[in-house]
Amino acid sequence: MHVVVESVPRPVLAVSDPRWCIPACGLVDPAVDASILVGRASARCVRFGPLRTHAILRTRPPARVGPAGGSASYAGFPVRSEAGMPEAFRVAGLVASRVGPEYLDGLVGLDSDPQVMASLGGPRAREVTEAHLRYDIQQWEREGFGMYALGADGGQVIGRAGLRATVLAGVREVELGYSLLPGWWGRGIATAAVDQIVGLAGLAGLAGSITATVGPANRASLRVLDKTGFAHQRQLVRAGETMGLYRRVLPPGPWGEGPGAVTADGCPVAVYAALPADGRAQLVDDRIRAGSSVLDLGCGTGRIAEPLAALGHRVLGVDNSPEMLAHLHAAQPLHADIATLDLGDRFDAVILASSLVNHPDPTARQGLLDVAAAHLTPSGVLLVEWQPPSWFEQWHAGHTSTATIGDVATGLRVHARLGDLVSATVTYQLADRRWSQHFTTRRLTDDDLRRALADAGLHLQDLFGPDGSWAAAVHAPPR
Ligand SMILES: C[S@@+](CC[C@H](N)C(=O)[O-])C[C@H]1O[C@@H](n2cnc3c(N)ncnc32)[C@H](O)[C@@H]1O
Repeated sequence: MHVVVESVPRPVLAVSDPRWCIPACGLVDPAVDASILVGRASARCVRFGPLRTHAILRTRPPARVGPAGGSASYAGFPVRSEAGMPEAFRVAGLVASRVGPEYLDGLVGLDSDPQVMASLGGPRAREVTEAHLRYDIQQWEREGFGMYALGADGGQVIGRAGLRATVLAGVREVELGYSLLPGWWGRGIATAAVDQIVGLAGLAGLAGSITATVGPANRASLRVLDKTGFAHQRQLVRAGETMGLYRRVLPPGPWGEGPGAVTADGCPVAVYAALPADGRAQLVDDRIRAGSSVLDLGCGTGRIAEPLAALGHRVLGVDNSPEMLAHLHAAQPLHADIATLDLGDRFDAVILASSLVNHPDPTARQGLLDVAAAHLTPSGVLLVEWQPPSWFEQWHAGHTSTATIGDVATGLRVHARLGDLVSATVTYQLADRRWSQHFTTRRLTDDDLRRALADAGLHLQDLFGPDGSWAAAVHAPPR
């Protein structure tokens, strides 16, 4: 299939990758990096004919909004909005597209429905919907985020969902709003749309939090807010009605919750202590000489460090969680942060496991690799465990999967994907104890990894292990 994208006012661009065109909606495959696509566009597919405008994901410059006027902060480091909110995305089998004039008729159908509008001030006249739409269009121009029309196959508008900049009780807020035609209620669409919009806003560094106001009788919306992590803050009176004000803090970077100790990056210590040995220590052992000195950065409970020490290597395990380090016995523990580690000592092998290298912040990633390189002997090897690009192919918004590892049952839910950034939550269950860990990870290509290693003065030797999820690097020869 061949897609022609006619960008306005840009010149015609030909796109020959079939994943960029999906029949009936023309939306980009969620697995494709959205950050490389063109601007506001209409698309025509030679096989399926004309498609709607707004069918192509677009990236925008960083949004300049938020109650604090800044971007969200991920565990102490700022994540700059690299892409802004997308113009379109897929959710629950629908296409969410930035609202534009072409959606007026569909939105009038929505706003004139008495059931839809029962909790939104009653049915609206066409002129009122038109005025709201004008406002929403202007807000997209001004703020870089706004409302999306939710379209089913064939282009029928079945709802809207999105964010509005507003002032509540004198405070500038970003507010969630959505409505769906009654025939589409009860299918989880609102929950999926809200989850993804909030996730995208977090990845775009849009605001510190998102609010929603809902009346006490609107049980369905209260359930949606509950499922998507909004917490009740207080009551307020709006347009003469008492409503609950709900707030969802945008992913503040990695966090975890559950019983017992949880590390700064959200790992539950009890879970890591319960996970059975895996084959990774053997993979590492196969790559190093007998009796090597080994530095394990982010060693956790020592799932790699301990078996390596048992095999006769001299292992120093570094972690910023004392609770994790308490599980080390054969390996030597060191409580420290990798970012500032300067041991004045060098090791035959340095391990940077558990996808720490897929850090969402490229500067932080580079810092980890610089520290690793600085602790390698001239002939030493850095062994990096990463999330290879193939893993990201399935990580589109709404993706869920489960697995059982020993006694630990895990579940993964992907909230949103924006360019190379993916936000997700893992849940762990061990007997009757449950934890959740939220994280944001960045897709790296082989070349990205090669370049990042080169920037640390290292040369990527090869990829090895399952799916090439490990990389071996050595000091680059002097030029
Ligand atoms: C996902 S756990 C994995 C632990 C171990 N590598 C394993 O495979 O079981 C990540 C570990 O890295 C540690 N960690 C993450 N960032 C760190 C940093 N900047 N400095 C020190 N430790 C860090 C966390 O405390 C946690 O114990």
